Amino acid sequence: MNNNIYIETYGCQMNFADSEIVTSLLLKEGYLLVRDIDETDFILINTCAIRDNAEQRIRKRLRELRALKRSRPWVKVGILGCMAERLKDQLMAEEDNVSFIVGPDAYRQLPAMLDRIRQGERMAETMLSDSETYDDIEPVRYDSNGITAYISIMRGCQNYCAYCVVPYTRGKERSRDAHSIVNEARTLFEQGYREVTLLGQNVNSYRWKEASSGVEVGFPQLMEMVAEVDPMLRVRFATSHPKDLSDDLLRVMASYPNICHSIHLPVQSGSARMLKLMNRRYTPEWYLDRIDAIRRYLPDCSITTDVIAGFCGETEEDHQATLGMFRRVRYDYAYMFKFSMRPNTYAEKHLQDDVPDDVKTRRLEEIIALQGQIALENNQLEVGKTFTVLVEGESHRSDKQLFGRNSQNKVIVFDRGDIQPGQYVDVRVTRCTAATLIGEIEK
Ligand code: 5AD
Ligand code: SF4
Repeated sequence: MNNNIYIETYGCQMNFADSEIVTSLLLKEGYLLVRDIDETDFILINTCAIRDNAEQRIRKRLRELRALKRSRPWVKVGILGCMAERLKDQLMAEEDNVSFIVGPDAYRQLPAMLDRIRQGERMAETMLSDSETYDDIEPVRYDSNGITAYISIMRGCQNYCAYCVVPYTRGKERSRDAHSIVNEARTLFEQGYREVTLLGQNVNSYRWKEASSGVEVGFPQLMEMVAEVDPMLRVRFATSHPKDLSDDLLRVMASYPNICHSIHLPVQSGSARMLKLMNRRYTPEWYLDRIDAIRRYLPDCSITTDVIAGFCGETEEDHQATLGMFRRVRYDYAYMFKFSMRPNTYAEKHLQDDVPDDVKTRRLEEIIALQGQIALENNQLEVGKTFTVLVEGESHRSDKQLFGRNSQNKVIVFDRGDIQPGQYVDVRVTRCTAATLIGEIEK
């Protein structure tokens, strides 16, 4: 068997960041990363379990890999990530094609596991940890544009929202050593990167204590430390839980020009009753108070969200409350989902998935239509304004155009002139769609 690994990643940014850690761990042991699946003997699939359709997609991919294994029977397939953690031995029993299963906190064991898997063993390692943060591992950013990067600052989640499987697949919340985060940001900047996004399930509860000095670092302090790396390094973060979004953080955001004005604040529902059932631990009033605080400290900040249509017991009135919330906040972007019942969650144990699928679909479509309209109107308000854009690359449509993002995280496309990716450039917006701003370089 060869020493080549091939890795496919599904799901959220955290999973993509984990795949970079897995790659780093394996390259250290002499493995080589290949991008052509026909060149590898080890296929790693980093999986997502957030909704049923995410898991169905993986199952389908495993069926496709069956065909590949028929022509190259020695190839070993491994399942990593949240679905590995959730299904463990069940996956081993059901998918005879799969040789190894590794949960999100067990990646350090992968090199030793692969040694045994070469000998024909099948095995699963899914122990969760209270302390693993992989803080000494330098991720191998194999899919990078060399300009923007994610830095994982914490792992796990213990909010136990009633619908969510993440606390069960990613374990307890733990924060990474602040110095290792700052060092990673500094190294990235020295390598030419110009933007970092600090990643966690709930970054506002980041808290790390330095053992030697006893000094505690919270999220606002961490943001300051990263922003101080260099004024030319942009800093973003995701995701915030509304219950923990503090004025302290907003003040820090307002005082560093290189901290981007963009906040992802998942609302999930606009109904007080639903939020309570979801165990979100805030009310619509609290949420709107946080929105008002954002607008007060950062008037030009973009706000994005996640929302779930058709959670257990959701009535037409609850749904209307969600539409009302969207009209009131006027989000710049939203990730919109149909509720999917997940095994072992509070909802599965105590609530009924009683909204018929066609009703969920219709409600979701209503939210999507409303949000599309609002996003377009928000973008229209940007026409005529000039933004500093960090250029990320060529536009997908034409190599004569470049694209980048403004501080608000909106994509702006413009004619390239003599500008190169990685540079900052001022662009005046001349027109827009619901998804993109189009502009020209300000002379
Ligand atoms: N069904 C639908 N959407 C879900 N999310 C989390 N769990 C579920 C579920 N069971 C959504 C939430 C979360 C985003 C990452 O995924 O909106 O913020
Ligand atoms: Fe990410 Fe959540 Fe999917 Fe896990 S279940 S990969 S944490 S989105």
